[in-house]
Amino acid sequence: MDNKNPDIPVLAIDGPSASGKGTVAQQVARALGFRYLDSGALYRLVALAAMRRGVALDDEAALAALAAKLDIAFDHGEVWLEGACAGDEIRSERCGAGASSAAVFPSVRQALLARQRAFRLPPGLVADGRDMGSTVFPDAVLKVYLTASAEERARRRYKQLIEKGMHASLEYILQDINQRDARDQSRHAAPLQICGDASFLDTSSLAIEEVVAEVLARYQAAASHSVA
Ligand code: CDP
Repeated sequence: MDNKNPDIPVLAIDGPSASGKGTVAQQVARALGFRYLDSGALYRLVALAAMRRGVALDDEAALAALAAKLDIAFDHGEVWLEGACAGDEIRSERCGAGASSAAVFPSVRQALLARQRAFRLPPGLVADGRDMGSTVFPDAVLKVYLTASAEERARRRYKQLIEKGMHASLEYILQDINQRDARDQSRHAAPLQICGDASFLDTSSLAIEEVVAEVLARYQAAASHSVA
C-alpha cells in the first residue's frame, strides 16, 4: 500500500514496553496540535475481545478475523470496544501479555494496518508503538526510539498501576517486561527494532517534561530539514 503523504506529517515513537511512549506521545501531540494514535491499544483490544469470546491467543486465523471486524472507537481520550468503555481493562498486564501474543501473527498485524493508517489526518499525527517507523509510517518526518532500562520501566509501570488503584507486583512486572521485550524483539513479523533512520533517546534518567521537550526539539529540526 502506498503510504506516502507528505502533506500530513507523522512523528513515529517506537520503543519497548513501559518506556513512557504513550505519555510522551500524547503530550507531544497536544503541543503540536496533532492527532494521536496509541497502536498498542488496538492489539490490546484484539486480546481483550479474544479473551471475552474464548478465542485462543494462538489461533492466528480467528484472531485475524476478529482484528479485521472489531468494533472499536477512540473518543474523548477513551478507548471503546463494542460500544463500552474498555480503557482501564485493556491496561491490565493480562491484556498487555495477550496483546503481545496476538501481535506475533502477520495476519493480525495486516488486519490492523489500514486501521492504523486511517489515523493519518490533518494537520498531522503522533503515533506510538513498536513498528510505527519501520512498517506503518515508513515516511515519518521523525522516528524516535524511546527506551529506558528494564528496571526503570518496571518501576514506572508499577507506579502507574498502583496510582490507578490496581493490584501490582514489581517483581512480576519486571519479569513480564523482560518476557515481552524478548517476544517483541524476536518475532518475525515487524519485530521491535531500532530503524536505521531512527533517533535514539534513553529516558532512564530524564523526567517526562525533559523527554517531551527533547522530542519536540528533534521534531522541529527534522521538519525544517524536510522542507528545506
Ligand atoms: O504499554 P506497553 O508499551 O507495555 O504496550 P503497548 O504499546 O500497549 O502494546 C502492547 C503489546 O502490543 C506489545 O507488547 C506488542 O507486542 C504489541 N504491539 C505491537 O506489536 N505493535 C505495535 N505497534 C504496538 C503494540
